[in-house]
Parts: sequence; C-alpha cells; structure tokens
Amino acid sequence: MASGRGSNFQAIIESVNRGEAPDVEIAQLVVNKSNAHAIKIAEKYNIKCSYIGSSEISRENFDKKVIEIMEESKVEIIVLAGFMRILSPLFIKKYKNRILNIHPSLLPSFPGASAHKDALRYGAKISGCTVHLVDENVDSGPIIMQASVEIVENETEESLSEKILFHEHKLLPKALQLICSNKVSLQGRQVTINPD
Ligand code: GRF
Repeated sequence: MASGRGSNFQAIIESVNRGEAPDVEIAQLVVNKSNAHAIKIAEKYNIKCSYIGSSEISRENFDKKVIEIMEESKVEIIVLAGFMRILSPLFIKKYKNRILNIHPSLLPSFPGASAHKDALRYGAKISGCTVHLVDENVDSGPIIMQASVEIVENETEESLSEKILFHEHKLLPKALQLICSNKVSLQGRQVTINPD
C-alpha cells in the first residue's frame, strides 16, 4: 500500500526481480491518492493496482474496501510502503502481525509524519530507519530490523532523507523476504530471526 512516490515499492519489485526475495510474490498495489507516482511504477512492472480515494470515506469503510481487494487478490502479507493513512483497529486485527511498515527514524524515537525534521530539531547525532510490524498505535509495533545513519554538521531534511532512503530500500525487501519465508518469530514484542 502506498500514497506517494513509491520508491520503497519499486525497491521490493527490483529485489524480487533480482531473485533476492524468492518467497515474495507481489499480488497487488493499493493506493489512496490518485496522483501517487507508485501507480506509474505498478504500470511499468505490470502489477495490478487499485485506487481507493480516502478523502470522502470513513476510515472503516475505506479499510473494508481494502480488505475486499486484498481477499480477492489472496494477499497474505501487507506492506505499508509510504502509506500515509492510519488503519482502523478492524483492519489491524484482521491482518494481525501480517502488516509491515517502514519508518524513517530509529523507533521509538521520532514517530509520526515528520521524522527527519524532528530528528534534526532535536539535535540527534544518529537516525536511521525501522521496519516493524503494525499494531493499533502509530509507529509502535514490534521491530524487525533497523539501520542507522550518522547525522552530520549542516545536515538538511533532504540530505538526511536521501541517506536514510538508501537503507530503507535494502531493509524493507529483506524484512519482507524473512516474513514470507517464515523466519520471523514473535514473543511479546521480541522479534527473533531464525537462521536457515
Ligand atoms: C519513506 O521515507 C518511508 O520511510 C515513509 O514514507 C516514505 C515513503 O517513500 N514511511 P516512498 O513512497 O517509498 O518513496
């Protein structure tokens, strides 16, 4: 699921195409913005894409429509790849521990929509990205993987975002492959990656 640029979506596609994620099969993309560039990426790679406008519809009704689409496409795992809308408890419950999100900070620091700006304002010396399972709260579910980057002098939101994005594109497909190959186990909020 995506709302914008779709670079993480593209990173997953490319990783699958390179044979690095043999247990991942991309069933379909769902977008909530008609101008999302992710739609163009889906077209380019011939991936089914559904648009559901989210501005004039309740959260629950939006989520019900998404569930219909996911069921029709037999989706087992959902990836929020820059999907900028909070999902309802109904949706989270239905796909419990089967929704992945990528967030551009080292959670639990700097959750929310302005992670880069918040890290810079705070004066953090390190930031990074986090792939986590989605629970009922924002950016708070069990952490699967993280990568860190250094924040240097004169760092800007753009330069920080670019550095972090490089790691996002590696981490998200890797975490997805681990989930799809049943290598991730969960006890409370402790995630263990099982070896081969
Ligand atoms: C990424 O920085 C991701 O961490 C955040 O939203 C951004 C999406 O970028 N959740 P893209 O649409 O994948 O290019």
